[in-house]
Amino acid sequence: MRFPADFAWGAATAAFQIEGATRADGRGVSIWDTFAATPGRVLGGDTGEPAANHYRRYAEDVALLRSLGIGNYRFSLAWPRIQPDGTGPGNPAGLDFYDRLVDELLAAGIEPWPTLYHWDLPQPLEDAGGWPARDTALRFAEYAAIAHRRLGDRVRTWCTINEPWVVAFLGYASGEHAPGRREPASALAATHHLMLGHGLAAAAIRGQGATTTGTRPGTPAVGIVLNAQPIRPHEGSVADLDAARRVDGVRNRIFLDPLYHGRYPDDVRADLADVSDFAFVRDGDLTTIAAPLDFLGINYYSPASVTGAAGKVDPELLEPAGDGPSRLVGCEDVGVLRGAEPRTDQDWEIDATGLTELLLRLAVDYPGTPLYVTENGASYRDEVADDGAVHDPRRASYLDQHVRATHAALTAGAPVKGYFVWSLLDNFEWAYGYSERFGIIHVDYDTQRRTVKDSGRWYGRLAATGAVPP
Ligand code: NOJ
Repeated sequence: MRFPADFAWGAATAAFQIEGATRADGRGVSIWDTFAATPGRVLGGDTGEPAANHYRRYAEDVALLRSLGIGNYRFSLAWPRIQPDGTGPGNPAGLDFYDRLVDELLAAGIEPWPTLYHWDLPQPLEDAGGWPARDTALRFAEYAAIAHRRLGDRVRTWCTINEPWVVAFLGYASGEHAPGRREPASALAATHHLMLGHGLAAAAIRGQGATTTGTRPGTPAVGIVLNAQPIRPHEGSVADLDAARRVDGVRNRIFLDPLYHGRYPDDVRADLADVSDFAFVRDGDLTTIAAPLDFLGINYYSPASVTGAAGKVDPELLEPAGDGPSRLVGCEDVGVLRGAEPRTDQDWEIDATGLTELLLRLAVDYPGTPLYVTENGASYRDEVADDGAVHDPRRASYLDQHVRATHAALTAGAPVKGYFVWSLLDNFEWAYGYSERFGIIHVDYDTQRRTVKDSGRWYGRLAATGAVPP
């Protein structure tokens, strides 16, 4: 099985998950520093220290990418390194770090794919209201302009916001993520301001325009990264089909429709009428949000099955309701089925057909934009074996299935242009701390020793040849 010669193969990470060095060089405090320092929020009390200490070991990590033959690297910029308070001029030392990283990547022949927001909001901006406050979107665009001014002579491809659904609904509705607020109405305001922030940042970057100086002059390409998910009805009943429509609304279409059609879907607004009147939408916002994307990034892990008749389903088959507000705002009555076997060590269902289904759905319902799988991968609690290697056949198998599913979508006509494995390194898996390991490279957090896993060698062969290894 072969992919086109220009198909982009990459690996992905995010700043807070790998960098460590949370006090270095004037970095400000982010909402994840605060959240992780709050007892009971993150498993095992884990924090952003030491992570993979990538802040100091970035050159070693770039060398690993190169040795594996991976030609694209998606990483994120830590907003609090660049603007410690979330406003004002750029912090030179913070900008210098990303400058060095980008130079190191380019010298190794690796394309940099920075993401501007991968969840580490400067704490002062949360103190001023966070994403439910409109001002955060305006601040985000200023930060984007600072980053682009510094790196835009070498960086061609910009991802604005990573997984706005997670930011809004886990951060502000269920409270599982930072800042841990449990205010369903605020999650909807956050949704809109994340979308607005995306649109304003894209405009700021495009407004600064093509760079004519530097080593790589060119026009910036700007996209957003969504964790759109296939939402399947448990059975064919009217109740289940309607539950799937509603969940698809708050999970997927609430982001995709403003981006592609310049409006929030009528059925979603009606479903959410008791939660919010959407008064946060101001004239012109949707035009800003709907400026054409240069690409759409998709993070895929699992599909979901839902039922509108939870009372009739064996409780054993359902995800237990959490002890706080649901992340499915407006769909609190919907039952979510426990993922079928097989599952990863994190208990996430493995179903690669969902990736093909999702890519084709996007190609049909939201056509015209190149698609990239900006994340896909699996957590297994790997250990270094006596022979010094990490044998992780289940991860290689997961990747193999999903790469084939990507190929199936491509063959069927979806405009898929690249695939990034999550993740280059084992890292801080948010509320799960360091207990989950997604890396194709193992990290020993005590010694910071890196060990390329068997799946990493497998993926390197794929990335270097464009052919799926046996
Ligand atoms: C998506 C997120 O972007 C990333 O930060 C996270 O670690 C992976 N999913 C795995 O949960």
